[in-house]
This record gives sequence, structure tokens and C-alpha cells, in this order.
Amino acid sequence: MPRDHKTPLIQKIAQQAHLTFKGLTSSANGDNALAEDQQGELVSLVTAVRAVDLKIAPRKTQPSSGAAGLQSPPVTYMHICETEAFSMGVFLLKTGASIPLHDHPGMNGMLKVLYGKLSLRCFDRLEDNLTAGDVLPHFEPPLAPFQTPSLRRAMLRSVAEYSEDSGPCLLTPLRENLHQIDTVEGPAAFLDILAPPYNPDDGRDCHYYKALQTVAEGGLDGESEEVKQGEETWLLEIPQPEDFWCGGEPYPGPAVSF
Ligand SMILES: [Fe+2]
Repeated sequence: MPRDHKTPLIQKIAQQAHLTFKGLTSSANGDNALAEDQQGELVSLVTAVRAVDLKIAPRKTQPSSGAAGLQSPPVTYMHICETEAFSMGVFLLKTGASIPLHDHPGMNGMLKVLYGKLSLRCFDRLEDNLTAGDVLPHFEPPLAPFQTPSLRRAMLRSVAEYSEDSGPCLLTPLRENLHQIDTVEGPAAFLDILAPPYNPDDGRDCHYYKALQTVAEGGLDGESEEVKQGEETWLLEIPQPEDFWCGGEPYPGPAVSF
């Protein structure tokens, strides 16, 4: 087949994402996972995308506080397109900004850095829910009893840095479905594809979490343990953190159509 040099790369990505994801049902029970080979073509297109393909220029290094006490959002979102099958847009993070640990219930996703460098901590949600007889570890700081119903078991699956030369970071309903995204050094931006899109009416709302630290059994007083890759840990579901909010701005790149 002759190579198509006229169609913008983002249009090809949108068409391939639609093809890849349109067969998924919209349930939040883990049935939405794609086989890896179904994603192959989409992964190779997404791996090739750069900021210039979307007419996005790397921003100057600037903290998120604006002048005269006015706060500008630490993170902004450029909406590109949304169908029933998937949504696609770009998140821009200012220097020092983070997207707190959050989930994507029943969803697949692809995150590709366009400029800057991001550190991603990805967790698997473990399904074994808390039962009355469970003995909880000692958390640091300690939890209040009313917080116990908000505890979730999880496993730290991966911790890695991504730059524009990295391939995309993938998530599925069961694997690496929760992640925390932190800028490393300067500002950063990434292309985000979610399938199916968030939809609170269909059980796909975004929840925020805090990774808890535990005190080792027999360990020194107050000495808390960082969870390591591959280890199980506890997350506490929390309201959206006050220092995180997301503004919107127009997407300047080639229009996408179906
Ligand atoms: Fe996310």
C-alpha cells in the first residue's frame, strides 16, 4: 500500500483508535481489555507523534502561580475529539505540576509524552475487598476509623520516566489502571487516549487516591516504609486534592474528523 503523506498523523491516530476501540463494550467490570496485538498499529502511530504534529510548542518554564495572587491552573487540557469508543486530548503540565493518583474504571488508555519529562507511578487495583476480619497494618499517619471504608488494596506495578522519545504508557481495566503523573524538572505535555471515555452515568467516573505508608512490624518508631515495585499496598480514596485543578485551552493542531 502506498504511504499516505497527506493525512495528518493525528487524523490517522484518531481513525486507528476508533477502529481499535469501537468493539469494546462499556462495562466497568474488566471485560474491556484489549488483546495486545489489537493495539499494535495504534501503538506504532502514537509512538511516532511529536508536539510539532499537533502544532504545540514547548512552553517556557513557569510555575503555576499567576501574577497578583491569581492562580492559573497547574494543568490544562486541549480537547481533540471524542466518540463513543474513545476520547483524545493533550494535557499540559506546568513546571512542578502533578496529576494526583487517579483511576480509569473499566477503561483502556494510552499516554504519550510530547515534550518534557514525566514520572509515572502505575498501580493495579486488587479486587480482594476488605472484610470485617481483616487486620490492617499500622499506617503513618494513622487513619481515622471513618476512613476504613475508603481503603483499597493495590499493587505498585511500575515506576518509570517518559520523554518524547519513549513509547506510550498503556493502561487496561486491570493493569496499571491507576496512575500518578509528575513533571520532572521543566514543564511537560502528553497525548492522552482513553477508551471508552470517562462517563459517570455509565460507571466510569474519575476517583482520586492517596498511597498510604505503613509502619513496619517491629520497625523503629515512626519509621514508615516506601512501597516497592511489585509489592501490594493500600490506597485511600480521597476527594480531588485542592492544589490540583485542570483548565481548558483550544487545541491548535490539525482538525480530526470521521
Ligand atoms: Fe489518567
